Amino acid sequence: MNALYFMTLFYVYMEKDIYILGIESSCDDTSAAVILNGKVLSNVVANQKIHQEYGGVVPELASRAHQQNIVPVIDQALKKAKISKEQLSAIAFTQGPGLMGSLLVGTSFAKSLAMALDIPLISVNHMQAHILAHFIEEETQDKPNFPFLGMTISGGHTQIVQVNDYFDMEVIGETIDDAVGEAYDKSAKVLGLTYPGGPLIDKYAQLGNPKAFQFTKPNVKGLNFSFSGLKTAILYFVQKHTKENPKFVQENMNDICASIQYTIIGILIDKLKKASKETGIKEIAIGGGVSANSGIRAALKKGEFKFGWTTYIPKFEFTTDNAAMIAIVGYLKYLQEDFADSTITANPRFAIS
Ligand code: KG4
Ligand code: ZN
Repeated sequence: MNALYFMTLFYVYMEKDIYILGIESSCDDTSAAVILNGKVLSNVVANQKIHQEYGGVVPELASRAHQQNIVPVIDQALKKAKISKEQLSAIAFTQGPGLMGSLLVGTSFAKSLAMALDIPLISVNHMQAHILAHFIEEETQDKPNFPFLGMTISGGHTQIVQVNDYFDMEVIGETIDDAVGEAYDKSAKVLGLTYPGGPLIDKYAQLGNPKAFQFTKPNVKGLNFSFSGLKTAILYFVQKHTKENPKFVQENMNDICASIQYTIIGILIDKLKKASKETGIKEIAIGGGVSANSGIRAALKKGEFKFGWTTYIPKFEFTTDNAAMIAIVGYLKYLQEDFADSTITANPRFAIS
């Protein structure tokens, strides 16, 4: 399937306005979005604050919160888009991967609504959606050219994907244990910071010395990542120093955060450099919550200068878990008439390719 084919189909459909409702419920964000011909009219996200007390997502609580949020969130998305549900052309929903209980809420709701409105249902792979978020029509957003490397970095994922075309993707590297956002959040917890601690580590890191402390980078073959060793190393490091000086963390917060950030960003960039070298691809598009990080942004800019990369980061609201990215995939699939039937079920282990 090439871009030209899509454009041809696009022109066939040009006569008609295509409204897609996207529904995302794979983890702890309930989101609904409406897009019109690839442009976002609304993108409503209800974050679930309840998990903060537990320092991580609790699946049962997530699924219950989705049940409470889904109707008001969809209602708000339609209101913000100023359309009625009868104007919708199709409903796209996250089929997986994700938490079973969470996915079931979005899947069942999307199926019922599509059936009630008698419109097509479109299943979306959450990981493909993070990558295809780059194709949301936005004046301020350039689209990557095929083939490109998509790197998705968040609390749940760490993946490098070779993207040959919209739906021709291959995972060429991924984490063998924790996700990068998890490494941030767990390190933050060790430092006594609130969940999710990634943005806080980033904030303090910008005030500290990245070379103040050294953490060993994991030695993982190929393009895969590992972050669980780093988390343990940070825990031992903090325990050791706190024994000698109970105020160690407090007195060195900026330097500790800068050193953690330096190590994590180094791991990501090393693999990206390797992937770019091996594939010969210099178009690099990143997504996921961690792409908000100042360190990764600076490192990508440096890569443009040093290695001739062209880098793409979508607007923040489209990098974290959101339904606009689900709706854009729905739109691309609608153009191909790639519809799901009513027997479809949630798939927590839905692979990208
Ligand atoms: O994509 P996202 O909203 O949800 C999923 O995990 O799928 O990503 C959230 C993750 C959290 O781990 C959070 O700590 C991390 O992204 N994060 C950051 C920053 N902003 C968000 N990590 C480092 N630096 C940031 N500025
Ligand atoms: Zn995600």
